[in-house]
Amino acid sequence: MRLANWDTEENTVLNVEKRQESVVKPTPILPETPAPAALKPAPVRVDESSRDDRPNLGMGDDLANAFATTQRVQVDEKAMINCRADLNQLIPFKYVWAWEKYLLARKNHWMPDEIPMQDDITQWKSEGILSEEERQVVKRSLGFFATADSLVANNIVLGVYRLITNPECRNYLLLQASEEALHTHAYQYCIESLGMEESELFNMYREIKSVGDKSAWALKQTSLLTDPHFNTGTLASDRLLLENLIAYYCVVEGIFFYCGFALILSMAREGKMINTAKQFEMIMRDESMHINFGLDMINQIKQENPHLWDAEMQNTAIRMIKEGLELEVAFAHDTMPSGIQGMNVELMTAYLQYIANRRFASLQLPEQYDAPTNPFPWMTRTIDQQKQVAFFEQNVADYQIGGGIQWDKGDW
Ligand SMILES: [Fe+2]
Ligand SMILES: [Fe+2]
Repeated sequence: MRLANWDTEENTVLNVEKRQESVVKPTPILPETPAPAALKPAPVRVDESSRDDRPNLGMGDDLANAFATTQRVQVDEKAMINCRADLNQLIPFKYVWAWEKYLLARKNHWMPDEIPMQDDITQWKSEGILSEEERQVVKRSLGFFATADSLVANNIVLGVYRLITNPECRNYLLLQASEEALHTHAYQYCIESLGMEESELFNMYREIKSVGDKSAWALKQTSLLTDPHFNTGTLASDRLLLENLIAYYCVVEGIFFYCGFALILSMAREGKMINTAKQFEMIMRDESMHINFGLDMINQIKQENPHLWDAEMQNTAIRMIKEGLELEVAFAHDTMPSGIQGMNVELMTAYLQYIANRRFASLQLPEQYDAPTNPFPWMTRTIDQQKQVAFFEQNVADYQIGGGIQWDKGDW
């Protein structure tokens, strides 16, 4: 079955209808209506007999919900949020898209120390191979990512997980949290291998403003959900959860990661820090799946709760993505004020605007930037190449012997 792929050129609002084919009893979305004002509200489906006659046990009270009734779980009882059915039973499936993404991601195991780092170590410790600005690019990128993936993992585990009330999505969230731990491991492995000053890199989000601003933006969103008194079930709190998901999947993972990815992969195209770029490539593949999954969650919540997706919420989503882009452009300015070979702030800004437009389209919002073309088509090709089914049948060893992607200059 074809999976939704929000990060490829072919994914447009027109494909939303196809994507929804894998959802049980999908609410139809008109393919010719990309503007939010044209969206027709989906009908709210509430099974009164199975939900409203139960005591309000509180969301996330899995023990109480499990034994609230002797009736077996019915598919129509399951919901993205505010579900009171037993959450300990994966079957019957409702959100098949989440289960399929879980299965696909499970085939995708890799370990950072399976990628040899010796060539990069030699380059990093040699004089005259990397310019000072290229060194700063490597340090700033690794410094940002050294803590960024922990922010994502904590947002899932401490905030989002208990509020997403179906086992299919929870299963994927568990996997995603584990992958975020692996990514933190990979960045730590790069930093240690290259002999960098670890305390400098891991404290960068507190000591470098452009890094800290992005992290603070993300942490503010997490802090709303981790309040022990926070729960969904009201219009305001349901919107906060939706806002958090948009913040993390569309902005933190969907924009904040892309400058660093593009910078490191751009250097690899010039034959520099290729092993570090391989680590980033493996992480990019995971992150692209995370974004796709998150967009599916967001759009499914919108579909089941159309009252949440009003003009105010749409404006909030637009504002957040614009804020994220501005913070990422500031990071690019700070990281490479003069530019490095083949890359500068102007190109990066155009790329980020192109990416932001993709996020708007995925949320069925109007694009906000005049950025019709991707200045870094090799980024898309790399991500797409990683997603081919055959890729997942390979293992990391294939990459070590060059059986996957060739990193020679100009090949991508
Ligand atoms: Fe990650
Ligand atoms: Fe991620």
